[in-house]
Amino acid sequence: MFKPSTAPILITGGAQRVGFHCAQRFAELGQPVIISYRQHHENLDKLTDLGVKCIQADFSSPERILNFIQELTNTASSLRAIVHNASSWLTEENTEMPPEQLMSIMTQVHMMAPYLINLHCKSLLEKAKEATTDIIHITDCVVAKGSYSHIAYTASKAGLDNMTRSFAKQYAPDIKVNAIAPALLMFHPDDPADYKQKSLSKSLLGIEPGPEVLYEALCFLLGNRYMTGHTLALDGGRALK
Ligand SMILES: NC(=O)c1ccc[n+]([C@@H]2O[C@H](COP(=O)([O-])OP(=O)(O)OC[C@H]3O[C@@H](n4cnc5c(N)ncnc54)[C@H](OP(=O)(O)O)[C@@H]3O)[C@@H](O)[C@H]2O)c1
Repeated sequence: MFKPSTAPILITGGAQRVGFHCAQRFAELGQPVIISYRQHHENLDKLTDLGVKCIQADFSSPERILNFIQELTNTASSLRAIVHNASSWLTEENTEMPPEQLMSIMTQVHMMAPYLINLHCKSLLEKAKEATTDIIHITDCVVAKGSYSHIAYTASKAGLDNMTRSFAKQYAPDIKVNAIAPALLMFHPDDPADYKQKSLSKSLLGIEPGPEVLYEALCFLLGNRYMTGHTLALDGGRALK
């Protein structure tokens, strides 16, 4: 069972939607939290009121990622866990940008940022008082099958999924490294009705579960002492359809 630590949990991209929900839930439990955010969000005031430390960060280049790591190191003397949640949902179809630029954005946020943060923050995880600490990569269920419409997104999330196993090998036994691969968690407000219907029909359970299921999965991984190098499918049975 997960018990709060005095060392903070870092959640990247934590100012909205799933990351915000998880940051809020951990903070309400008395668990210190640090989030990164890229743009200003009204939610930042709510998080600050709960004692969450919010660091502005744009993961669009190695230099910017390293600047974030420097600021994080100035802020925290240890970390209980790192949750790589920051993500971009741009696709080849919904952007005008050239494909090379799209792939660069995807690889920076989904691969380069987790890669550099994991390498540079190992010592912060080792300084927490817990017997084991955690890195959790939030990927996507599409990495297993590929995607008709999100090629760069899926490929870069697959890279992140692969890093789960390499970092698990390298960081055992002190740091556990796992991934969570969700299917639909929450729609965007402007998602069309036909898209919603099609998405719901892709899983056996057929629901939009909301962000709480991801929070529950995080608590499971943080509280479990014997799981590393695995990907937890949080997909409503989508893999069976
Ligand atoms: N929502 C779902 O149904 C679903 C389904 C499958 C998988 N997932 C995965 O679950 C996680 C949470 O989903 P979500 O829908 O809550 O995510 P999201 O809102 O699309 O993205 C989370 C945050 O990532 C930040 N971000 C994007 N690009 C960035 C960059 N270059 N540098 C720094 N931060 C950046 C954004 O910050 P700003 O807003 O401040 O710009 C955003 O708030 C994601 O990893 C997603 O891939 C979600």
